[in-house]
Amino acid sequence: MNQRPKAAGASKLWGGRFDQPPDELFYEFQRSFPFDRRLLPYELAVDRAWAHALETVGILTSSETQQTLDALDAIAERADSDHSWLDLSPAEDVHHFVEMALVERLGPLGYKLHTARSRNELVATDFRMFVKDAAQEVSRNILAFIAALADLAERTMGVPLAGMTHLQHAQPVLFSHFVLAHTEAFFRDLERLSAARSRADSCPLGSGALGGCAFPVDREALAKELGFSRISANSLDAVGDRDFAADYLYALAGLATHISRLAEDFVLFASQEFGYVLLPDEYSTGSSLLPQKKNPDAWELLRGKTGRITAALISLLITLKGLPSSYQRDLQEDKEPLFAAHDQAVAIAQIAAGAVGGTRVNEARLLAGAEDSALLATQAAHYLVRRGLPFRQAHEIIGTIVREAERARESWRSMPLSKLKSFSPLFESDLGQVLTLESALASCDVPGGTAPARVREAIAGCRARLEQWTAQLAKGEA
Ligand code: ARG
Repeated sequence: MNQRPKAAGASKLWGGRFDQPPDELFYEFQRSFPFDRRLLPYELAVDRAWAHALETVGILTSSETQQTLDALDAIAERADSDHSWLDLSPAEDVHHFVEMALVERLGPLGYKLHTARSRNELVATDFRMFVKDAAQEVSRNILAFIAALADLAERTMGVPLAGMTHLQHAQPVLFSHFVLAHTEAFFRDLERLSAARSRADSCPLGSGALGGCAFPVDREALAKELGFSRISANSLDAVGDRDFAADYLYALAGLATHISRLAEDFVLFASQEFGYVLLPDEYSTGSSLLPQKKNPDAWELLRGKTGRITAALISLLITLKGLPSSYQRDLQEDKEPLFAAHDQAVAIAQIAAGAVGGTRVNEARLLAGAEDSALLATQAAHYLVRRGLPFRQAHEIIGTIVREAERARESWRSMPLSKLKSFSPLFESDLGQVLTLESALASCDVPGGTAPARVREAIAGCRARLEQWTAQLAKGEA
C-alpha cells in the first residue's frame, strides 16, 4: 500500500470520477505549471477571446462576460507584480491556474469559462502563439547580428584572406567576402524562422478535446481576435500536431549550427598559428594558471551551445515518434526543451553580435597569408588557358611546376622565365603582371564573386536585405 501523502483537493479540473486524490509525488511529476506558467499571457488572451465566443453563443450573459474579462485583467496584473503568487501556486498547469484564480474572484461563475473547451486545444493554441512571437524575437536578434557582420565586412574592405577549402590554402579572397559568406547562412535562418512562424499561424481553438466544439462558436472570429491568419482544418489533428514546434526547433538548430561554424573560423583565426583576428577583451577570458593567455571563450561557448539546441529538436521528434493520433499527455514534454532552446538562441545571437562588433583584424598577417604564391596557381593556369591551352593541360603543367619547385625547396614564383618556358612555351614576360594578388582578386568578377567591386555591391545588398527584413518583421509579415 502506498503510504505517501495524497495531493488532496489539488485538482478540481477532473476529480469527479475519482475515489482517491492523486499521489503527491505523481501530482508533482505530472504538473506543468512550473514551466508552462510562461504561457500565461497567451492563456489569458485565449480566455478573453473564449469569453467573447461564449457570449455570442449565449452561454455567458453580457454582464457575466464583463465580469470574466475584468477578472482576467486583474489576474494579469497580479501575475505581473506578484511572482510569489505563481511560485507558490499548487496549480497543475497554466489552464488550471487561471481557473483557480477566476473562481477565487468570481465564485461559481469562474467555472463557466471552461465550457465547451479542452486544455488540449488551449495548450495547442497558447504554444502556437508563443512560437509565433518567439520566432520574431529570434529574428530581430539575428538582424542585429547580421548588421554587425556587415559592419565588419565594411571596415575590413580590401583586406585579403588566404581562402581555404579542406583548411588548405586554395585561392585568395577578400576577408569581407568571407564575412559575407556567413551572413548568407543567417539570412537563410531568417527564412526558416519565418516559415516556422507561418506554420504556427493556424488557430486550433474550437477543436475541443479532439472532436470539435459542441457549441456553434465562430472559429474564424476567434482566430482573428488572437492574431492568427487561419484556422486548423481538422480537430483531431489540431490537438495532436506539434509540427510547428519541430519546425521552429529545426530553425533554431540551423541558427546554432551556423553560429558554430562562424565560431570555429574565429577560434582558428584567433590562434597564434593564424593570428588573423583579435578578439575583443570583453568577450574573452584568461587562464587562472597561464598569465599570457587570452581565450576565445565566447566563440567556444557559442559553438558549444549547438549541442543542447539541436538536442531540443531531437527530443521533440522522439517524443512525437509513434504517438497515437490526437492529444497524448506525452506532448507536455514539448515545452521545456523548446523554451530552453529559444532562450539560448536569443542569447547566442546577442553574444555573437557583440563579439563580432569588437573584432579587429591583423591586416599584416592576413596579407602575409594571402601572398602565399601557391594561391596564385589557378591564376597561372588561367594564364595558359587565355593563351589557348585546354584547362586540364594547364592544370597539369602548373601542378608539375609547383611540385618541381617544392622539390627544389624554392618558390615557383621565383623561377626564371627561361625555366618556366621549359614547361610551356606559352609563358611570356607579361606573366609577372598577371600573377599578382590584386589581379587574382579582381578576376573573380561575377555576381557573388570576390572581386572588390562585387564585394562592395554585396555589402550594399546585405544592408538592403536587412532593411527589408526589418520592415517585414515590423509589419508582422515575417
Ligand atoms: N499541461 C498539459 C500540456 O502541457 C495541458 C493539456 C492537458 N490535457 C490533458 N488532457 N491532460 O500538454
